[in-house]
Amino acid sequence: MSDTPSNSEKKEVIRVLLVDDIPETRENLRKLLAFESDIEVVGAAATGREGIEMARETQPDVILMDINMPDMDGIAATEIINKEIPVSAVVIMSVQEDAAYLRRAMQAGARDFLFKPISGDDLYATIRKAYDLHRATRERFQRAAQAAPEATAKKAERLGKIIVVYSPQGGAGCTTVATNIAFALMREDTRVLLVDADLQFGDVEVFLNLKAQTTIIDLLDTVDDLDEELVESILATHDSGLRVLLAPHHPADADKIKNREDMGKLVEKLAMMYDFVVVDTQTYIDDGLISLFDVADRIVLVANPTLPSIKNARLAFDVMDALEYPPEKVVFVLNRMQSERERGRISAEAIENNLKRKVEGQILLDEKTVISAVNRGVPVIASNRNRSPAKDFIELAAHLRSILSEREEEEELEEPEQVSRKSRGLRLFGG
Ligand SMILES: Nc1ncnc2c1ncn2[C@@H]1O[C@H](COP(=O)(O)OP(=O)(O)OP(=O)(O)O)[C@@H](O)[C@H]1O
Ligand SMILES: [Mg+2]
Repeated sequence: MSDTPSNSEKKEVIRVLLVDDIPETRENLRKLLAFESDIEVVGAAATGREGIEMARETQPDVILMDINMPDMDGIAATEIINKEIPVSAVVIMSVQEDAAYLRRAMQAGARDFLFKPISGDDLYATIRKAYDLHRATRERFQRAAQAAPEATAKKAERLGKIIVVYSPQGGAGCTTVATNIAFALMREDTRVLLVDADLQFGDVEVFLNLKAQTTIIDLLDTVDDLDEELVESILATHDSGLRVLLAPHHPADADKIKNREDMGKLVEKLAMMYDFVVVDTQTYIDDGLISLFDVADRIVLVANPTLPSIKNARLAFDVMDALEYPPEKVVFVLNRMQSERERGRISAEAIENNLKRKVEGQILLDEKTVISAVNRGVPVIASNRNRSPAKDFIELAAHLRSILSEREEEEELEEPEQVSRKSRGLRLFGG
C-alpha cells in the first residue's frame, strides 16, 4: 500500500463508486483499485442516472464520474449528487480536450478531476485527497442523517422538475403552452408527465384526443399511499407516448375533491416518478392552485400582447411577489405574438418595459397551425419544427430544460415552509 491513513489508529476504508459508460474503463479502474487495501469499490454504474441510484443506495465516500455519458452527462449527475447525496465527494474523469467542461464540473460541485488515461498513482492519490477534503462535509451529513433519517430520505427521492403553466386570463393559451412544452421536453431519456389540473374545465383530454375513465380524482383520494403501479393504471397515454393525468370529466366532479391543497403534494409525488411534470392550470386562484405554485420549480406565466392580458399579468406578478417567490421562479411567456409586419402590434420589448419583467419566451399567433393541431389531437410541434410557432415551443422547452438543470443555489429559498404557506394564503385572500 502506498499510503497510510493519517489520523486514526483504526484503518479507514474509502468506499468508491465508479460511473462510466465504457465497460473496459470500469474494469480497468476496478483492477487498479483492487491493489489498495484502504479502498473498496462498492459499485460500478454505466450511466449517470444509474450512478445516482447506486449512490443513493451505497452512500459512497468518493464517486469517480465520467463526463461524457449518453443518458445524463457527468456534470448533471454531479449536480444532483451534490444536492441529494452530499456525503459523497465526486471526482470527474475526462480527457484533456474536455478541459472547458471541467470548470462547469467544479461549479457543479466536483471535488477534483482526473485526466484519462489514468495512472494508478494518480488515481490513489486523488481518491485519498478527495476523501480527506470532504471529511468535514461527510461527517456533518452523516450525523444529520443519523439524527433525522426520514428527512434525508425524503429529500433524496425527488428527481423530477415541476413546471406549472398558468395564465391569469382565460383563453390566453395556457393549455396550448402546457401541452406543447410537455411534448417538446420528451426524449428517449426523459420521462414526461402532463397533468391537467384545471379541475373544472380541463381541456387536455380534448386537445390531445384522449379517452380514459380515470382522472386526477382517483389519485387525490389516495395521495398518501401512492405507488408507481397505481399511478400508471390511472394515466392516459397519447399516441406519441406522452403520459397524461386527466382532469375530472365533469365540472361537478371537482366538488368531490375534499382537499384541493393535496394537489401540490400529489404533483410532488409524481415528480419522483417522472423527470418533468408539466401542469396545466385554471385561471382562478385558490388554495389548490397555490399548492401547485408552491411545489413548482418554475411557474410559466402565459399572457397575450393585449392590454387586458398585460394588466392581468401584472396582477399575477403581484400575487407571485405576495407569495414571496424569488423572481426567477416565474418564467414570463407571451403567446399569440403577431408578426412584425402587423400594424398596431404590441412588441415584447414594450411589454417588458411596462411590466419591468423579462420575457423568456414568445410564441407566434398562427390560427391555422394551432387549430388544425388541436382538431387532429396532435401537438403543434409536430408541424414544421423549423418554423414558428412549433419552433417557439421547442425553444421554450429547451430554455426550461436548461435553466432547470443549472445549479440552483436558491433551491432552499424555493422550498416553502408549510406553516407560513397558510398565512400567506390568508393574506392573499384578504385575511
Ligand atoms: N399561438 C396561438 N396561435 C393561434 N391560436 C392559439 C394560439 N395559442 C392558443 N390558441 C388558440 O386559442 C384558444 C385558447 O387556447 P387554450 O385553450 O390553450 O387557452 P387556455 O388559456 O388554456 O384557455 P382556458 O381558459 O379555456 O383554459 C384555443 O382555441 C387555441 O387553439
Ligand atoms: Mg386551458
